[in-house]
Amino acid sequence: MQAIPRRVCRPPGWRSPHATARSLKSRAAALRVRPRTFTPISISTLPSLGSPTSPPTIISPASIRAMSSNASRALNLANINPHVKAAKYAVRGEIPIKAEEYRSALALGHGKDLPFDTVIAANIGNPQQLDQKPITFFRQVASLLENPALLEHEDVLLNQLGYQSDVLARARRLLREVQSVGAYSLSMGAPGIRASVAKFIERRDGYPADPSTIYLSTGASSGVNTLLHVICATPETGVLIPIPQYPLYTATLAVLNARCVPYYLDEAKAWGTNLDSIRDALTKARADGTDVRAIAVINPGNPTGGTLTAAEVQDVLRFAAEEKLVVIADEVYQTNVFVGEFTSFKKSLSELQAANPGIYDTVELASLHSISKGMVGECGHRGGYFELVGFDPEVVAQIYKFVSIQLCPPVVGQCIVECMVNPPREGEPSYPLYKQEYDSIFEGLHKRALALYEAFKRMEGVHCQEPQGSMYLYPTITLPSRAHEAAAAENHTPDEFYCLRLLDATGICVVPGSGFGQKEGTLHFRTTFLAPGTDWVERMVSFHEGFMAEWK
Ligand SMILES: Cc1ncc(COP(=O)(O)O)c(C=O)c1O
Repeated sequence: MQAIPRRVCRPPGWRSPHATARSLKSRAAALRVRPRTFTPISISTLPSLGSPTSPPTIISPASIRAMSSNASRALNLANINPHVKAAKYAVRGEIPIKAEEYRSALALGHGKDLPFDTVIAANIGNPQQLDQKPITFFRQVASLLENPALLEHEDVLLNQLGYQSDVLARARRLLREVQSVGAYSLSMGAPGIRASVAKFIERRDGYPADPSTIYLSTGASSGVNTLLHVICATPETGVLIPIPQYPLYTATLAVLNARCVPYYLDEAKAWGTNLDSIRDALTKARADGTDVRAIAVINPGNPTGGTLTAAEVQDVLRFAAEEKLVVIADEVYQTNVFVGEFTSFKKSLSELQAANPGIYDTVELASLHSISKGMVGECGHRGGYFELVGFDPEVVAQIYKFVSIQLCPPVVGQCIVECMVNPPREGEPSYPLYKQEYDSIFEGLHKRALALYEAFKRMEGVHCQEPQGSMYLYPTITLPSRAHEAAAAENHTPDEFYCLRLLDATGICVVPGSGFGQKEGTLHFRTTFLAPGTDWVERMVSFHEGFMAEWK
């Protein structure tokens, strides 16, 4: 295991994207597979945000630097919170910023010389950005919540606009619950919605859930943020984080000036957990003076797409009980499972508790879920929840206070959480359409995952685990040594070098493995399989062939 520098929360293999400081133009000059005459767009030439014809713009790091001046401002890069500067978030880093520049150029009719006419955002699990249609039931309910006056025109809704009676009934029930989506709710979320979440957990797991332990959140991200804020007491506090990981964890630990204690997932075992590797990581961290308080597990995995077995879940819980660690179970992909079965940490803990009375009662488990993933894909509505089990009531009071400081999660998002956990059932009027939409999204995702997996099999030096779940594939790539040298010459890691060239040549934006952490000496990239069609997959295959031939 590679040593992690103390106080700096970076997983092994993590590298700073130094080249962000260079302009797109100077980097394009260094590229061998590149748009030759593409001129980077300066933000000053773009229409302002909000203009009806303008695409939204991202200000590139180079442009930011050009605008920066220390002279007349209180804040500059040298005096802001250094922990914010230390945080890395590759999912929205250098490569996606460049992809956004390409996208803006194409939208404005510039970039005619680019070797592609569309940008494929395969870097982020944002289903509706990539044409996944919202589930009709959720949006019909949301439309009535936003504009309750429509409920006074029941006849039009039912007979002209295709709303079903259960949509109206659900909207009325939710409005009774929240009064108005324009009003703050309780900080933990509306009580009736938390009760629905508890019932969902009971149906899913076959064990009781208590609504008073459910906290609605602004997506799972705010839940993770809350938990890590409460857990991270000193700069010596550490949290075991799976590597590779979703960078929310390392970034938040960096902001909190706490320590990431990396444990490696086992690529050869479909990215499962390896208890020996977790134990080694814990022992070493404790020997280094790290006060390890918690273990985070992402199941199904991001970026790996692996789904843990019931035995792996139980092993982690036993280990956490032995070592007195809080378990943070990130289960946002729980319905994105193609192979095997999702086992929730809550169910597994309940089984352990039932089989061993008294032994596991104080295991502290926080499980998170979200409306952003699965077939729901409502990322922009920012809804989710976490359930707390086994926590000290005094700690719970502090968690409650912490969430209260943020007032409340978006109320429409809370209502969509309710629709997710309590969707139309068989026999209800909205059920046939709901089921058809749900199944078709699921099948589409699976089909595209398999198409990508088959394509990877045709690519020299690329090896990928069979798709099991979540929204990602995370293949290993072996690149020729000349590509490694060329990457070093331009201050990129080889996987960054590969992903940048892939973007420049095809418009496909993926994330280099160095953004998630990877074992020393290995290279990967993460791609989603959300983009419609398979044409882009073929673009990737032919790029790869050219790349390998060029750098051999
Ligand atoms: C593993 C994991 N956890 C949490 C999140 C955050 O999701 P949300 O949109 O619910 O904040 C993501 C988003 O991609 C994720 O992949």
